[in-house]
Amino acid sequence: MTRILFVCLGNICRSPLAEALFKHQIREKSLEMAFEADSCGTADYHIGMSPDPRTIRNAHKNKIFINHLGRQFHPVDFEKFDLILPMDVSNRSHLFRMQHADLYTSKIKLMRSFDSKDKGADVPDPYHGDESDFQEVFEILNRSVRGLIQILVTR
Ligand code: 4NP
Repeated sequence: MTRILFVCLGNICRSPLAEALFKHQIREKSLEMAFEADSCGTADYHIGMSPDPRTIRNAHKNKIFINHLGRQFHPVDFEKFDLILPMDVSNRSHLFRMQHADLYTSKIKLMRSFDSKDKGADVPDPYHGDESDFQEVFEILNRSVRGLIQILVTR
């Protein structure tokens, strides 16, 4: 069993969509038994809250079911997960600054290190954007999750 944690700032836009896309693509490949996925935020702004309504609308438009309640990253997540995937360098820095993070750096990889396009770039924060920004995030995450699964199943 491989456990994967997607991390953004608020846990209402990018990371819950990444989690939903991962679960969707894993289900399509009948690999549900092999993986567990969750998402969280580095900030505490939206603990217990549903994803942003714009994220839910965009996911539904793209035929992706999204079901998550916001939670904040907790240091035990360093132990619990095998792969921890921050959406951008800012959230990666936040993780790196946490106590004992140095023991877990090999688990932490930028989400777009798995993208086939603009590898290693940030997943842009769509919070202050419009529908086209949410769709751009969808396409980035859809590609990145596909790249991630490809690597997970071939290793
Ligand atoms: P996320 O987007 O990190 O992709 O969930 C954001 C959500 C909320 C805020 C910022 C980014 N905020 O400042 O409340």
